[in-house]
Amino acid sequence: MKHIRNFCIIAHIDHGKSTLADRLLDFTGSVTEREKQDQLLDSMDLERERGITIKSHAIQMEYTYEGQEYILNLIDTPGHVDFSYEVSRSIAACEGALLIVDAAQSIQAQTISNLYLALENDLEIIPVLNKVDLPSANPEEVTDDIVDLLGCDPEEVIHASGKTGFGVDNILAAVIERIPAPEGSYDEPLQALIFDSVYNPFRGVETYFRVMNGSIKKGQRIKFVATGNEYNADEVGTLKLNQVVKKEIKTGDVGYLITGIKDAREVKVGDTITDAKEPTTNAIEGFEDVKPMVFAGIYPVDTEDYEELRNSMEKLQLNDASLVFTPESSAALGFGFRCGFLGMLHMEIIQERLEREFNMTVITTVPNVSYHAYTKKNPDEIIIVNNPSDLPDPSSLDRVEEPYIKATIITKSDFVGNVMSLCIEKRGLITNQTYLTTERVELSFDMPLAEIVFDFYDRLKTVSKGYASFDYSPIGMRASKLVRVDILLNAQTVDALSALIHFDNAYTIGKKMCEKLKELIPRQQFDIPIQAAIGAKIISRETIKALRKDVTAKCYGGDISRKRKLLEKQKKGKKRMRQVGNVEIPQQAFMAVLKLN
Ligand code: GTP
Repeated sequence: MKHIRNFCIIAHIDHGKSTLADRLLDFTGSVTEREKQDQLLDSMDLERERGITIKSHAIQMEYTYEGQEYILNLIDTPGHVDFSYEVSRSIAACEGALLIVDAAQSIQAQTISNLYLALENDLEIIPVLNKVDLPSANPEEVTDDIVDLLGCDPEEVIHASGKTGFGVDNILAAVIERIPAPEGSYDEPLQALIFDSVYNPFRGVETYFRVMNGSIKKGQRIKFVATGNEYNADEVGTLKLNQVVKKEIKTGDVGYLITGIKDAREVKVGDTITDAKEPTTNAIEGFEDVKPMVFAGIYPVDTEDYEELRNSMEKLQLNDASLVFTPESSAALGFGFRCGFLGMLHMEIIQERLEREFNMTVITTVPNVSYHAYTKKNPDEIIIVNNPSDLPDPSSLDRVEEPYIKATIITKSDFVGNVMSLCIEKRGLITNQTYLTTERVELSFDMPLAEIVFDFYDRLKTVSKGYASFDYSPIGMRASKLVRVDILLNAQTVDALSALIHFDNAYTIGKKMCEKLKELIPRQQFDIPIQAAIGAKIISRETIKALRKDVTAKCYGGDISRKRKLLEKQKKGKKRMRQVGNVEIPQQAFMAVLKLN
């Protein structure tokens, strides 16, 4: 135990965590030449393509330092705010953290939020100034920023480059010298923290854990404290690039467990594993269920594929426990599912995985957050509204509450004005403004979550020319003046296009939606009126003019193959169209409300 070090790497997105992790693996000889590829730990194709880490990963390295062999367990964590829950769990499994800061970008919003998480868990922080090879690197200034943030000595900041490998030896030395060895007792009942789980189609769910006390042995009868379920430890081992089967994983170490569980929902990240017969009296604290933040409907393009979609979603959920869904039906779209996601990125990933891994073509509706509605009759009873069409009749409503977040934005002083106007437009209330240095400012706002779910990220990037970083955490529900804006196509309400919008913005947004839909919905054989309405009141109207000509008319009498090609092309375009009444609506139209500006 004395020679084990458990650490994670925390950083703002893109500051180079995964690249640096690759270098650590190289340097310690943990990968062979043949296994080498970029971002080794990002094992999902999607992670590689997008260059982002979605899941946490763990890997064990062996390293000899001053004649002594050490076991170093590295836990790589995702940087995107949608996955911050995973970061907090990984942090709880470590004694130390490498805090990576990009030498050109300096400290950003998630550098700070992840640092606070690490400090809350009493981790030893090793600051690393990364990407020093960049021509735009500004090592002196960024070191000063780090020293200010941590209150450390400038000498404690390790200069490194994940690209060239510079400084990696110093990082390893610091991990061994500065991070404390794990504590805990081998003689106590088993207590292990689950910090991640991975679904393997052949072996079921693989649970990753860190043993805090006792040990976990092959064949042992174990229990998960939060769920109360008992299992046999069919296989345990350590996590090298490939898994290495072991008889026992002891106090302080990190490993994996296979129990034959087929459903990811049975394994809750943050839960404690203990011995079934001699359970630990104290579960590791801080366990909480992950709550979805964003909801949207997912419908098969072809109504006949509903059952297949259900099957695919169930399989995907075995794999991603943070996905939740319940069946719903829409007058416009038929049968589908209301799904809960951790954020917009998570939603995009789920949609993409459904298409790639399950070959489903789906339509996703306008995402929304979860609202609380209260009626005049029962003003104390919460009605949870995850779908705008479930909002009770406006005349019966006492009030509606929406989730608020605390947003932290770090930007250059030049852009403070722009960022503030954006946040105020998004119904934000400024709560704090701190100059971190003369150049860099940290702004805090209380804002409705719904406003950042939509185009906030992109807008923030634009108004700050890319020099703003953003992080948020939920701060509870607040009453808001929300109304439901409905969209009518050809005088029929399309429920899947309804959205809850703040009363002050309802007219503008209703108008913009009509204009946008006019652009997106293809012209058909007849005029299509598009209307926005609040209750029975029409607030805006546009018309899509009828097509004057048949697309194939001009081929009449001409080349038949050309005509066929045109029709083929039309059919392809239909792939993601949905017939609602007699109007065909393309997928983009359902997301139109997201891109109004
Ligand atoms: P997430 O996993 O999405 O949180 O990102 P990350 O922090 O793991 O960053 P990643 O390692 O994917 O690196 C982000 C980008 O920076 C990539 O394009 C890397 O090639 C580049 N990069 C990483 N380290 C260095 C470095 O030391 N020098 C230079 N010049 N580029 C680097």
